[in-house]
Amino acid sequence: MTSVSVITSPDDLVGAVSRDRRMMGYRVRRQGDGWIELEVVAQRTRVPVLLVLAWPEVWRDEEQLRPHLVRARSGNYGLILVGTDPELEAARMEAMSTDADMTAVAAPIGMVRLLLTLRTRAETITQRMTSAMIELELERSRHENDMLISIGRALSQERDIKSLLAIILRRACEVTNADAGSVYIVKNADEDVSKRVLRFEVSQNDSRTLPAGNMEMKVSSTSIVGQCVLSGTRINVPDLYALDEPGTGNNSWGFIHDRTFDDKNRYQTRSVLAVPMISARADVIGVIQLINKRAKGWIQLDLPGDFEAGVVPFDDVSEAYVSTLASQAGIALENVLLYEEVKTLFDGFVKAAVTAIESRDPTTSGHSERVAKLTIGLARAINHAETGRYREVRFTRDDLTQIEYAALLHDFGKVGVREHILVKAKKLYEHERELILQRFQLIKRGYKIEGLETKVRYLMEASRDAIAEQLSAIDRSLADRVTEVDDIIKFVLAANEPTVLEQGGFERIAEIARMTYRDEGDRAGPFLTAEEASSLQIRRGSLTEQERLEINSHVVHSFNFLCQIPWSRALRDVPVIAGAHHEKLDGTGYPKQLKGEEIPVGAKMMAIADIYDALTAKDRPYKKAMPAEKALDILASDVKRGQLDADLYEVFLNNRVWALTSVDR
Ligand SMILES: [Fe+2]
Ligand SMILES: [Fe+2]
Repeated sequence: MTSVSVITSPDDLVGAVSRDRRMMGYRVRRQGDGWIELEVVAQRTRVPVLLVLAWPEVWRDEEQLRPHLVRARSGNYGLILVGTDPELEAARMEAMSTDADMTAVAAPIGMVRLLLTLRTRAETITQRMTSAMIELELERSRHENDMLISIGRALSQERDIKSLLAIILRRACEVTNADAGSVYIVKNADEDVSKRVLRFEVSQNDSRTLPAGNMEMKVSSTSIVGQCVLSGTRINVPDLYALDEPGTGNNSWGFIHDRTFDDKNRYQTRSVLAVPMISARADVIGVIQLINKRAKGWIQLDLPGDFEAGVVPFDDVSEAYVSTLASQAGIALENVLLYEEVKTLFDGFVKAAVTAIESRDPTTSGHSERVAKLTIGLARAINHAETGRYREVRFTRDDLTQIEYAALLHDFGKVGVREHILVKAKKLYEHERELILQRFQLIKRGYKIEGLETKVRYLMEASRDAIAEQLSAIDRSLADRVTEVDDIIKFVLAANEPTVLEQGGFERIAEIARMTYRDEGDRAGPFLTAEEASSLQIRRGSLTEQERLEINSHVVHSFNFLCQIPWSRALRDVPVIAGAHHEKLDGTGYPKQLKGEEIPVGAKMMAIADIYDALTAKDRPYKKAMPAEKALDILASDVKRGQLDADLYEVFLNNRVWALTSVDR
């Protein structure tokens, strides 16, 4: 059977491969005179192992040898130089001293030695290729691992649902090279899956600009995402345009391809991969739907031909990537949904608490919400500031939430203030005012009685001629005294009105308080009691010192109340911020008389918002609504006095933050 036992020429080798059974594992190709390529048929590698034998007449020619040397540096190629020792010795050493896979056999060569050489070369090359592949595989899984860890990290840090879903979708498109995609959330945690609703939350399309928007649809088996929810498994449709009628052929799912979107946008939804996001409780809580896997890199899918040529089905690797991503995303999404649920619950509680406290004092209704709106508005304006002392301050989302809670609950401590003080509108309580007015009526009556008594005395004693003149003198004196009391009443009622700014001129109150009258039992009594006089002498607002202290104690109550709440790390400063909203930069505030930098910036912002709202609100007890310009002037004078932060006020003023609540009143 063996016809050639010694190979001396390329022809011998070609003949041996076709005739010698021992060469069955090789396929032969002539590469021109003197070059024989042998492809190793039985091998473990995906890429064929190629062995090239070169005879001296060709390998001595450097020009001819060079391309083979280059190829012999690649993984699957081995070069075997055939020649005698003297021929090989005469070869140029530069050609030999390369890193190419190269060996030499002396001609003539016996079949056994040739086969052994070929086998050794093939084995070496196969091993090298296998280890390179393992290395590549390792590198890929390392990369995959890194990618998934980085995705996992990004997902676990995101608490805003829209941003989270956008990250999930972007990463899913990246790892699969999908042209487009959407993420859906399953709404309604109904036991009956078919009663659940899918809400389209985010979408991405590299080839078309799509309008943003939300859309809801019933979970139905006729849609791919619906089926994905119902089955809880991933669905891979290679080409939606090649799908048979629902329920037949390759469309056993029963999908109905609604082409409205495609027609409207000159788009073709060809390959589709839908992967469910599953919660820890094994519920499908969302779906990642990817559309049109691009065959190569980033290509724009514009014309119909682009879809035909450029889109391929999602392969196993894509499925595996997206499934891993979806399982991570499912956990992250569930966390975010739970977080939102808890937040909604807590927000509801805060709102209810605010409503409860404001219902004790209807005149401050809406104050807390407006202060929160103004303070957050100011913080956001600072986030955009490019100049000024706060240009580098940036409040994170958590910071803003913290400030918002502090602002909403800043006056919650008013629960600890007695209601009659809380709603006190004038310097005197209503019953005090009534008492004073009745007293003055009594005084006037007393004067009248005194006048009548005097008249009677005269009538009894005086001569007839003098009577008329005397009586009219008594009437004049009486009228003067009654007028004086009426003036006093007017003055007292005017003094009872509270003022926003400090006011003096209360010496007359002291004078009035020193005046006395005689009551029915002829006992002397003061026009105004000491307490009444001191109330009427309140220089600003409507509260006495004692009452002011009680009102001021609300900040301490707010702080103590808020300390009871186990705030998360990100919100732990809520009590401190709320508890410092009445502190002033110059240390004249309360309750701790903090100064400058001792006051948290959130509290400094809130102080501006709080004063502004107190001044401009329609119905504060001690004053009427004030125009914005005047309120801003008052804030400016507080800034000038060193009580409010000048830079914050500037941002509040220049960014028209103050106008944010003008519609709320
Ligand atoms: Fe307050
Ligand atoms: Fe307040």
